[in-house]
Amino acid sequence: MKQVVLQSFPQGNPAPENFALVDAPMPQAGPGEILVKTLWLSLDPLIRFSIDEKRLTGVVHLQPGDVLYGGTVSEVIASNHADYPGGCLVEGRTGWREYAAVDPVGGDRVRGPMRKVDPALAPISTALGVLGMPGQTAHAAAVGMGRVQAGETVVISGAAGAVGSMAGQISKILGARVVGIAGGAAKCATLLDIGFDVAVDYKAPDFKAQLSAALPEGFDVYIDNVSGDVTVAVLPFAKFRARMPVAGFIAHYGVGMEGPGPDHMPGFMRIINSRSLEIRGFSGPVVAGEAGLAEMAQWVREGKLDYREAVVEGLENAAAAFCETFTGGNSRVGKLLVRVAAA
Ligand SMILES: NC(=O)c1ccc[n+]([C@@H]2O[C@H](COP(=O)([O-])OP(=O)(O)OC[C@H]3O[C@@H](n4cnc5c(N)ncnc54)[C@H](OP(=O)(O)O)[C@@H]3O)[C@@H](O)[C@H]2O)c1
Repeated sequence: MKQVVLQSFPQGNPAPENFALVDAPMPQAGPGEILVKTLWLSLDPLIRFSIDEKRLTGVVHLQPGDVLYGGTVSEVIASNHADYPGGCLVEGRTGWREYAAVDPVGGDRVRGPMRKVDPALAPISTALGVLGMPGQTAHAAAVGMGRVQAGETVVISGAAGAVGSMAGQISKILGARVVGIAGGAAKCATLLDIGFDVAVDYKAPDFKAQLSAALPEGFDVYIDNVSGDVTVAVLPFAKFRARMPVAGFIAHYGVGMEGPGPDHMPGFMRIINSRSLEIRGFSGPVVAGEAGLAEMAQWVREGKLDYREAVVEGLENAAAAFCETFTGGNSRVGKLLVRVAAA
């Protein structure tokens, strides 16, 4: 079978040569284990944390030669565990490989037992997107951390991504006016299609003027997925006691703890203090939990969430697609997935 291993630690943003597609022996299910065939692989920005040369954050840390970490939806094809019979569909973190033999209840110390996927609820790939970890993160950002209220103005960076596109729609459900920030005119047009009130293109030369026009009275909540120059531009629009759930800071993944500067800390601290800003980092799955997932499922059933998926075909194309997440060269809106095998 095929699998993707870490070839070398990336310096800065990951590049395809940091990964290698290799052959591996077909695994066998041991006592209490299941053998799964990977159908869908999720390409999440957080995978970047696991391949930092020096471990900084995150629970998984890989070495060259290790199989890449990642969320998957798989089919059980052989089972030594009564609760996970053959044919059952499961979501877990079995990595970038075609087959895996895993302990479904004790093998993943990161997130606990593998979750069973109900194909009647929605396409099974959604277990990695709107009905999975990114969906929980969007729910946690808007409902839990952001406490978005009707009539408020919410700004979202990384708005075209899996988390941002859902956080924007949840904020609309909650009655807010929603401003999305994304790179490029095409992504901004799609944000309007899926219900954002205003879309601001951070790559446009008039980005700051667009932002200013979109936020005449400032923002109540800023759901930040990217940090960097976008956040430096957004923060001066904070209203008094604005909330800022920090879902992620993708602009700084790969630059370690320091970054190249310039140092925006003085202005940042001034705004935090003078506007009584409430800034909270959080883990989406921990904050949203099962209740958040259930509410997302309810909104999907009611047709209230326009979730989109960008599908890359084949494990051999996973590394290049993952790398594009960080270079901004992608044109996708929504969740990035690899179809590893047909269901
Ligand atoms: N806290 C949690 O539990 C949790 C869970 C899931 C995800 N996250 C974090 O949430 C964020 C979004 O995740 P996601 O799954 O939605 O990601 P995603 O679907 O892969 O979208 C990421 C998008 O970020 C934008 N981006 C990349 N580099 C950028 C930069 N330097 N400046 C501005 N925008 C940049 C790109 O869109 P453009 O083309 O618009 O630039 C990219 O497509 C990430 O930071 C991720 O690590 C956190």
